[in-house]
Amino acid sequence: MKAIRGATTLVSDTAEEVRKKVGEMLLQIVSENKLNMSDIICIMLSSTSDIHSIYPAKAAREAGFSSCPLYSSLEPDMDGSLALCVRAMLLVETDKPVKHVYLHKAKALRKDIASVINIAIDGPAGSGKSTVAAIIAEKLDILSLDTGAMYRATALKCLKSGIDYAEKDQVKHAVENINLRVEYKDGKQLTLLDGEDVSGEIRTPQISMLSSYVSSYPFVRDKMVQIQRRIASEVSCVLDGRDIGTNVLPDCPFKFYLTATPEVRAERRFEQDKIKGTSQTYEQILEEINERDKQDKNRAVAPLKCAADATVIDTSYMTIEEVVAQILAKIQEKI
Ligand code: DC
Repeated sequence: MKAIRGATTLVSDTAEEVRKKVGEMLLQIVSENKLNMSDIICIMLSSTSDIHSIYPAKAAREAGFSSCPLYSSLEPDMDGSLALCVRAMLLVETDKPVKHVYLHKAKALRKDIASVINIAIDGPAGSGKSTVAAIIAEKLDILSLDTGAMYRATALKCLKSGIDYAEKDQVKHAVENINLRVEYKDGKQLTLLDGEDVSGEIRTPQISMLSSYVSSYPFVRDKMVQIQRRIASEVSCVLDGRDIGTNVLPDCPFKFYLTATPEVRAERRFEQDKIKGTSQTYEQILEEINERDKQDKNRAVAPLKCAADATVIDTSYMTIEEVVAQILAKIQEKI
């Protein structure tokens, strides 16, 4: 006899959602372990105390697991534990090694067996998310994906093609033919446009504004989100952007939203630019930040918004090290 573990999370506490997620988890356990129904001796299920709509055991029975004893229990409330979570333990007759199944946000419970781990960091321009994402990725020995760089490269493509970015069809044509790749050298992201490394070229004030503009086109977002989801499904990475927690990876177990006042963000940019030797004044940077916030927050598709289940960190009066420490502590709590 062997024991197989499973866990999954729900989006909401409805009977329909419990049926869907419990059925999905149990069927996946059966298929991944090549079980026959007659191999299952019993199924024990437990749920967190925020689930009231239906017993998970009833949902399991309704999903076709009716020939073995089923049992549901309630888990104690623990600080920092996953919300809306159903766990399973199946006792089975099998000689083969067993595979445990962790789905949705429950992947975070077993970092050792979940194939990839993604961390979402969203926030407005200048909130420190790219810097923080790169440090977190280095500390966890995973990659960092700066999704803003992809929108910036798209804007550069429009600029280089000499098209009018306010003309939807022209932008669409440029994006359909875009050859955009992300590579890593010594752990650092390189953004390649048509085979050329444009990592430096995309960091100008003009491209900042242009990228914010072109990112509001749904077909641009579709293309970028498709690439981002593929990368996130293949490798463990920290993704920073505007819509990672809300749209790109809504099931991501680790979501953070960094924010800071526009004045603090402008001051940071001004200090960074001084080192690089660029010449915008503090007032110009503040105006650009306010304008970009407005564009990023008000676009119709996937606007900059804090996910309901994200941890919000106001970085205005925090050092980078403090922000990194807070994020790492939160991740540790869950794994
Ligand atoms: O993070 P950044 O400043 O490099 O991003 C440039 C622009 O790209 C930003 O103003 C809005 C857009 N963007 C987006 O719409 N969604 C993302 N996930 C990342 C960036």
